[in-house]
Amino acid sequence: MIEIHGVTKRFKHVVAVKELELTVREGDIFGYIGPNGAGKTTTIRVLATLLRPDEGYATIGGYNILTQPLKVKRVIGYMPDFFGVYDDMKVWEYMDFFASAYKVERSKRKKVIDDILELTDLIGKRDEYVDALSRGMKQRLCLAKTLVHDPQVLLLDEPASGLDPRARIEFRELLKELQRMNKTIMISSHILTELSDFCNTIGIIEQGELLCSGEVNAIIDQLQGARIVEVKVRDDAEHAEEVLVQHASVTKVHREGNQLVIEVPLSVEDTSFVTEILVRNGIKVVAVQESAADLEDVFMKITKGAVQ
Ligand SMILES: Nc1ncnc2c1ncn2[C@@H]1O[C@H](COP(=O)(O)OP(=O)(O)OP(=O)(O)O)[C@@H](O)[C@H]1O
Ligand SMILES: [Mg+2]
Repeated sequence: MIEIHGVTKRFKHVVAVKELELTVREGDIFGYIGPNGAGKTTTIRVLATLLRPDEGYATIGGYNILTQPLKVKRVIGYMPDFFGVYDDMKVWEYMDFFASAYKVERSKRKKVIDDILELTDLIGKRDEYVDALSRGMKQRLCLAKTLVHDPQVLLLDEPASGLDPRARIEFRELLKELQRMNKTIMISSHILTELSDFCNTIGIIEQGELLCSGEVNAIIDQLQGARIVEVKVRDDAEHAEEVLVQHASVTKVHREGNQLVIEVPLSVEDTSFVTEILVRNGIKVVAVQESAADLEDVFMKITKGAVQ
């Protein structure tokens, strides 16, 4: 649905985005993650046809951003990272303004707007002034605005920044709802964990270069480099360690008290052998779990170049 081919964008001395290659498939929720200044906004603005790349091009829904910008604009809903100021405008007027700008037929406009306000949980605010809304409501309104022309692709630049935990969760629910409506979504953030549980694919960018992209789990695996199994035994932890280190599929065992952290190569899909050999050796196993990677850790590891 989104294809980026060799896009480079420079600002004077800064290469904001460098030879970017990226594909987002239909129905994907793609998390675009990187620290401040990484090039996320630049990429999204290029896709939204607001910035012209110095090199390369992209297509959205098959339309070329360079040669068919109007077609692209019809397909996308772009939510910028900053919400403009709208004095003296009510929520409903604001929505109506965008609906008319997108030439939503007058006769359908009311229903379209009310449906979207319902979806974004703003229907109770339709007659309030935009300026009087809380930040979270403004973010939702900004997303609501991007939906008036029923775009297939949503480009959301840090839509969840500055939201409190509850608003974040509500926002996440809203995005899931949009995914069920079969929208393709590209969403940026600095915070990997904010995106990881509802994005199916992610890409990590730093200093204009895409460090990796693909399925969330595959990337975590790739970065983690091993499967981690955590075992708690009742006693005999030393014996357990001895037994485990001898196993061909175990690369490392770390013991602390009755707790064992076992590293298994990614090629070993089934880690149930760990419990099996412990039990076979008469060791009482209290708990076993394959631990999920600490995403923030992974993120810091791979972006440490620029962060430090
Ligand atoms: N209009 C501009 N003029 C000059 N330099 C710019 C401009 N826009 C962006 N840059 C530079 O391009 C680089 C990438 O900026 P960009 O805004 O794309 O990063 P970002 O990943 O969105 O960061 P943030 O997380 O802070 O929003 C930065 O070094 C920035 O200073
Ligand atoms: Mg940005």
